[in-house]
Amino acid sequence: MEAPKINDGTTKAGDWRTYQRVLLPPVRDLHQIEVYEQHGGYSALRAVLNDGKFDPQGLGAHVKESGLRGRGGAAFNTGMKWSFMPPVDPDVPRFLCCNGDESEPGTFKDRQLFEYNPHLVIEGMVLGNFAITAKACYIYIRGEYASWIDHFQRAVDEAYAKGYIGENILGSGFSTDIVVHKGAGAYICGEETSLMESLEGKRGYPRVKPPFPAQKGIWGRPTTINNVETLACVPLIVNHGAEWFSSMGAERHPGPLLYGIAGHINKPGVYEFPTGMLISDLIDEVCGGMRGGKKFKALVPGGSSTPVLTAEQCVGATMDSDSLREAGSMLGTAGMLVMDEDTDMVAFLRRITHFYHHESCGQCTPCREGTGWLEKLVTRIDEGEGNMRDLDLLLDLCDQIEGRTICALADAAAWPVRWTIRRFRHEFEAKCKPAVFAGADLQGDGASGQLVPVV
Ligand SMILES: Cc1cc2nc3c(=O)[nH]c(=O)nc-3n(C[C@H](O)[C@H](O)[C@H](O)COP(=O)(O)O)c2cc1C
Ligand code: SF4
Repeated sequence: MEAPKINDGTTKAGDWRTYQRVLLPPVRDLHQIEVYEQHGGYSALRAVLNDGKFDPQGLGAHVKESGLRGRGGAAFNTGMKWSFMPPVDPDVPRFLCCNGDESEPGTFKDRQLFEYNPHLVIEGMVLGNFAITAKACYIYIRGEYASWIDHFQRAVDEAYAKGYIGENILGSGFSTDIVVHKGAGAYICGEETSLMESLEGKRGYPRVKPPFPAQKGIWGRPTTINNVETLACVPLIVNHGAEWFSSMGAERHPGPLLYGIAGHINKPGVYEFPTGMLISDLIDEVCGGMRGGKKFKALVPGGSSTPVLTAEQCVGATMDSDSLREAGSMLGTAGMLVMDEDTDMVAFLRRITHFYHHESCGQCTPCREGTGWLEKLVTRIDEGEGNMRDLDLLLDLCDQIEGRTICALADAAAWPVRWTIRRFRHEFEAKCKPAVFAGADLQGDGASGQLVPVV
């Protein structure tokens, strides 16, 4: 049975008021397998495995054509990523990995899928396994999601019992497994290679790349890794078509998107709309405006590592890769942190630098030492003990950290520092100890003279 057409192929972000949710539809008890089936659940799997709608390559090509881009942060084309897997060798097992570590501050959208629509994720995982001919899909869920892990495991057990996972699925001859793995509370285990180390029972140290996971992933075997929300989009693409998906939302970054919105707004939460929503619509209309009628000051658009934007930079900007790049940031995970006029940007950055320092795995010197220095310097400024030179030192430190390490955690630590100082420098200067320029009665402008801190 093909699921009914929902949101015609031209649904754009501007139509958000009439948008019908497809990732988190408003169906009571959808987490129960019978309810999911009654609403068209597992029809995509039947279409592929029983009706021969796609062979593995055809499914990969269709997903590529849909324009689906990873929802885990880097926004890479999913079908293209699948195509990086080497040719099938029957003697070499291959794996899919579903990344549900969800530890980036400000990001809490995969959790909603685990709770309200776990079978959509499971169906997406089995289809993903089919597309890359994987023996199994490991799903890695952050340990703090203890109750959601149990909830998800129950859904997996139900799907096994109904023959949607396991041996000879739906009598098609295709067999594959799903293994639920519980994380142990480290942000770094969301990084793909570190996650694989952790799955193998080792300390979660990111691996040096190359080799990339498609060559050498879990247990040294070819592996593809995708985010939970990414895989949840796959059954929708199979049911409604690549064209339906690609014409929804932003042209070069299409599809439905879960926006996790937190901070100083009246109605925080996870909202589903097409990609490309106007930031102003999300804050003013969807989230009921700023709390207490305060003025909107700043936005972190996609999880704590994405560069903070000023309110002015958000004017006319939409939530998709192109528009946010133009505005000066990134879509990341679409985990939005909205800040009002009372927010102390130095205190904000202090909290962020503490997090990255705490979460650095310590393998690389620029990250292990650098994140500590970033935290120390920002803390010193926040406590009124810093001076103007610390600001330039912080920016210099970012230069020493970015692009010089094994994984992107170090970049993720440096970006908030660089961009918060660049965009809110006056607030940092105001907290620094007074300094004077030799021969001038000024504070701050580090470009024009030697700084003489007054102690
Ligand atoms: C420090 C760090 C933490 C990450 N945490 C997550 C995470 O919690 N969930 C996730 O899906 N991707 C995370 N990523 C990105 C993954 O490495 C990987 O790119 C992603 O899972 C790929 O899925 P996608 O192509 O579907 O987006 C993280 C990356 C880094 C560098
Ligand atoms: S960049 Fe940081 S988190 Fe990543 S491997 Fe190096 S030390 Fe570990």
